[in-house]
Parts: sequence; structure tokens; C-alpha cells
Amino acid sequence: MKLPIILIGFMASGKSSLGKKLARKLNLRFTDLDTEIEKREGISITEIFKNKGEAYFRALETEILQEVLQNKDHVIALGGGAVCHSNNIDLVNGFGLSIYLKKSNAQLLGRLRQNKEERPLVADLNDVELKSLIQEKMNERAVFYEQAHLIIEEDKPKISDLLERIQQLEVEK
Ligand code: S3P
Repeated sequence: MKLPIILIGFMASGKSSLGKKLARKLNLRFTDLDTEIEKREGISITEIFKNKGEAYFRALETEILQEVLQNKDHVIALGGGAVCHSNNIDLVNGFGLSIYLKKSNAQLLGRLRQNKEERPLVADLNDVELKSLIQEKMNERAVFYEQAHLIIEEDKPKISDLLERIQQLEVEK
């Protein structure tokens, strides 16, 4: 199996929770890129955006992504914007096996509404604003997400099905 496995997709698409389950099943370690960034800076993602700005965050995101991709025996969950700048999608696809957790804009709205607080791009938005931000960002980002090796559209994918699809990919190569 090509490793590391890298989960990509929009905010609140379920990357971390699926990543943890997949890692447990495969006996791999789980790494969350945002957590690594927070550890490095010693402050939260929200504070990094607030104190240092998004451009600073994006530069750091690429730098730490390059580092974590060196670890083979990992399942890695990336922040929603990570593969959408600096040619990071090519980097990710070159190093590992990428999986896109695809959700509809309506699903994303439902999920993000409940989980906005720690996400600086959406924390202060009302429902109408949130809906248009999802539309706008998905219009820009889909082209990157869709380059993943595997695209998972099921709402609650079963780990066993996911593993089957990963194995199928290897056979097709
Ligand atoms: C971002 C997604 C966040 C985090 C940051 C920016 C984005 O990660 O990296 O707030 O641009 O979509 P999650 O996808 O885990 O929310």
C-alpha cells in the first residue's frame, strides 16, 4: 500500500475522525497537520490567523506539510485549504495516497454550522454568509480536491469498504 495515506477535503468533511479510524485499523500513526502547526507555533490556528494573518499560516502549512509527508507509516489529515495552494496537491500525490472526502455544499453547511468556533474562516459568519463562503471556496477548491487518487462520496464510509477501494487502486495500477 502506498503510504502515507492523506485525507483531504473541505472543513468539517470528517477528515480527522475517519483518519483516526483508518489509522487504528491499519496500525499506523495518525497525524493532524493543523495540530502539528499549533504545536510548532505554540498557539491555536485561530490565534495564528488573528495575530499573524492567513498568508503566514499558508506558508507554515506548506512547510510543515513537507515535513510530515516524510513519515511513511502515517495517516495524515490536512486542513481544508492545504492542497489548494503552492502546488501542494502535486506534493501530496507524489508522496502518498490521497483520499478526498467529498460532501455536497448542503452537507457541508449542515456540518460546519455545528462546528464553526475553532475555524477562523467561518467562526463569525451567519448562516447566509456561511452558505456563500462554502459556495465560493468550493468553486475554487474542487479542482484541487478532485485530483485525489480516491474520491469517497458516501456520507459515513465504512472502513472495510474504504480498504477495499484502496486495494482495488493498487490492483489497477
Ligand atoms: C482551513 C481549514 C482548517 C484550518 C484552517 C483553514 C481552510 O482545517 O486548516 O482553519 O482553509 O479550509 P479543517 O479543514 O480541519 O477545518
